[in-house]
Amino acid sequence: MVILKSSEEIEKIAESCRIVAKTLDAIKGIVRPGITTEEIEEFADAYIRANGAVPAFKGYRGYPASICTSLNNEVIHGIPSNRMLKEGDILSIDLGVYRDGFYGDGAVTFPVGKISPAAEKLLRVAEESLYIGIENARVGNRVSDISYSIQRHVELNGFSVVRAFVGHGIGRYLHEEPQVPNFGILGQGPRLRDGMTLAIEPMVNEGGYEVLILDDGWTAVTMDGRLSAHFEHTVLITADKPRILTKSN
Ligand code: MF3
Ligand code: CO
Repeated sequence: MVILKSSEEIEKIAESCRIVAKTLDAIKGIVRPGITTEEIEEFADAYIRANGAVPAFKGYRGYPASICTSLNNEVIHGIPSNRMLKEGDILSIDLGVYRDGFYGDGAVTFPVGKISPAAEKLLRVAEESLYIGIENARVGNRVSDISYSIQRHVELNGFSVVRAFVGHGIGRYLHEEPQVPNFGILGQGPRLRDGMTLAIEPMVNEGGYEVLILDDGWTAVTMDGRLSAHFEHTVLITADKPRILTKSN
């Protein structure tokens, strides 16, 4: 069942989402060659707590950290470690927060220093696909209209969308119905309604869409070893245009 949110609930989700966005902004300021993903983890964990929230991923189904740090060929769920970033890397940061009974969820892929033109194009197309998906998150459309628009933009640009992980409803739970795939045909799935809150999160691969899970039980990597990017916003469907909640102001 897809849960519609009241205006009181929406403002609480929006507050959690603001903290997500502020934390991602702050992380942007420290991503540079020489920092380790564990140092980014510690910074993010402290930042979230200083804002009166709790990192939502820590302990979620046994996940061992407060954020996901997925480097280069890693798609999602990379676990922070003592690995050092270097010039030319791309780093996906995914984070969720919980505050006052409600979740917010967002992700950004950051360039580390100067990156290759191919990596730049991947980041651009992945982020564009998120905004195109959001543009289609409108009352009267169905969930797969979002999915279709994302897949179309990604594939027209020569990249692929990951199938193994999808976006989701969000609110009192981190993952609610409906699932929001980043691929599909038009006109399928639940109709979008005023008051739905969705985490839309395309994962875009430079090569093939297939992924593998590493022996740590979490890290998803591209099967072909090529790059992957991930952008995510939590969005409110309204009678008017979609409202992006994971904004810092
Ligand atoms: N943003 C991912 C998602 O929406 C985060 C997974 S939570 C984790 O599903 F804790 F398992 F990493
Ligand atoms: Co999510």
